[in-house]
Amino acid sequence: MLLTGKSALVTGGASGIGEACVRLFTTEGASVLIADVDQRAGQALADELNAQGHRCHFTYADVSNEASVEAMIAKALELYTRLDCAVNNAGIGGAVDSIDNLSLANWQRVVDINLTSVFLCLKHELKVMKSQKSGSIVNVSSGAGLIAVANMAAYAASKHGVLGLSKTAATENLRTGIRVNAILPGSTRTPMVQASMDMDDDIKKMILDSARCGRLAEPMEIAQNIAWLCSDRASYVSGESICVDYATVCR
Ligand SMILES: NC(=O)c1ccc[n+]([C@@H]2O[C@H](COP(=O)([O-])OP(=O)(O)OC[C@H]3O[C@@H](n4cnc5c(N)ncnc54)[C@H](O)[C@@H]3O)[C@@H](O)[C@H]2O)c1
Repeated sequence: MLLTGKSALVTGGASGIGEACVRLFTTEGASVLIADVDQRAGQALADELNAQGHRCHFTYADVSNEASVEAMIAKALELYTRLDCAVNNAGIGGAVDSIDNLSLANWQRVVDINLTSVFLCLKHELKVMKSQKSGSIVNVSSGAGLIAVANMAAYAASKHGVLGLSKTAATENLRTGIRVNAILPGSTRTPMVQASMDMDDDIKKMILDSARCGRLAEPMEIAQNIAWLCSDRASYVSGESICVDYATVCR
């Protein structure tokens, strides 16, 4: 199996792409800590996977809050004694509005949850991984990390920022044994995308048009690439930003 014996943390692991990562990582032999603000869904997923014989736990964590992130990392170490893989995936779409109408509060919320969270997670994951002299981190950005998304400025800016953070973290860790990469999913069939499509007809059209192969990605199709990056099969891959979007941003 791809991840036998590894311990992994998945933020936003209760739903969508994070949930697919949790399911795949456990199937591939990892022990997985789900960290999410959605206590009910996260605990239910852990219970389901444990009943199938996998090793999986849930902890409540708000990744935009440093104390909560520190407690999440401490929980992973308490459970598994080490942290081999971290998937910094939690995120939100945020308000849909033009920049001149966007409130500072809406901007700040998206930046806190999508970007500051990745800084906080990296900060505390890297401390642990440096002491182990090994680890693999995958940050979940987006196609919106490379291109403009009209009326979703905070989202696009935060996802561009995730790429900058990922490359910087990889560069700071060239000789520590820690790899850091980013995944840029295309439009993927998750509750977040459904909520964005329900909010605004223009966004719905943009999302459906963006699926150039005629369908949205399934969460598991994104998770497969994240699992590979976390595994030893990607042992010479760091500082990469990999689009999993069926050529959407190639236009
Ligand atoms: N679905 C897509 O099309 C798509 C495309 C590109 C990038 N992404 C990115 O993939 C990631 C996952 O998105 P998804 O579509 O699976 O969304 P989702 O809404 O299905 O899942 C996101 C999860 O993050 C959790 N979360 C939200 N705020 C949190 C916080 N402060 N602390 C901890 N957990 C929190 C939610 O409770 C939820 O379980 C996000 O970063 C998103 O931006 C998604």
